[in-house]
Amino acid sequence: MSDGVEEYVSRLFAAEDELLVSLREEADRTGLPPISVSADTGRLLQVLLTSIGARRVLEVGTLGGYSAIWMARALPANGALLTIEIDPVHAAFAGRYVRRAGLDHLVEIRVGRALDILPSLDGERFDAIFLDADKEPLPTYFDWGLRLVRRGGLIIADNALWGGKVLDDRVTDDATQGVRELNRRMATDPRVLGILVPTHDGVAIGVVR
Ligand code: SAH
Ligand code: DHB
Ligand code: MG
Repeated sequence: MSDGVEEYVSRLFAAEDELLVSLREEADRTGLPPISVSADTGRLLQVLLTSIGARRVLEVGTLGGYSAIWMARALPANGALLTIEIDPVHAAFAGRYVRRAGLDHLVEIRVGRALDILPSLDGERFDAIFLDADKEPLPTYFDWGLRLVRRGGLIIADNALWGGKVLDDRVTDDATQGVRELNRRMATDPRVLGILVPTHDGVAIGVVR
């Protein structure tokens, strides 16, 4: 999508407050990778979570807490966001900002490799899962989504267009194949009703049937 469209939508629907602006500035200054969701994607996440009355949400890939703060702000006072992050530096940064945002009662950051932590959640029920970490294991993360998310809940994945690489048949690396397989399942697995919304780097959304 053109930058003009994204800017128009973001200015109208997804203005950042001071906290989100300073999170991004400090993240840039201190060398965190500049791969948080876009503001309009943050707003899309809020719309999706609100539309299903989400109370419990699971995120895979916290980084600096930018998407976590957008999502936690769409949860009720008794809500809970559990977010998994492999890098302790990212997790510590996110923890500071979650606290500054006054959301530490809603957000728990668990440090570790997602594929190690997800099995410990078996038997729990979430209203939505947001997949935004490494791309190779996306098919496995999708399977965990089907296990952990209630009927009528959402499996959501960022980077569904993967910089356009999913469209280019010459690109066959494992990360791109992971995103392609995720999209294929979102499109064809009868257990979800899915769509790919071409916002920013693409957001794949599946409603669990
Ligand atoms: N959701 C964040 C952006 C996440 S970037 C936001 O929008 O603000 C991807 C994050 O996933 C990085 O912080 C990276 O360290 C983490 N990550 C990568 N592989 C992981 C894994 N196997 N398990 C858990 N976290 C992982
Ligand atoms: C990259 C971007 C992301 O948004 C992400 O979740 C993981 C990796 C990247 O551009 O490398
Ligand atoms: Mg991402």
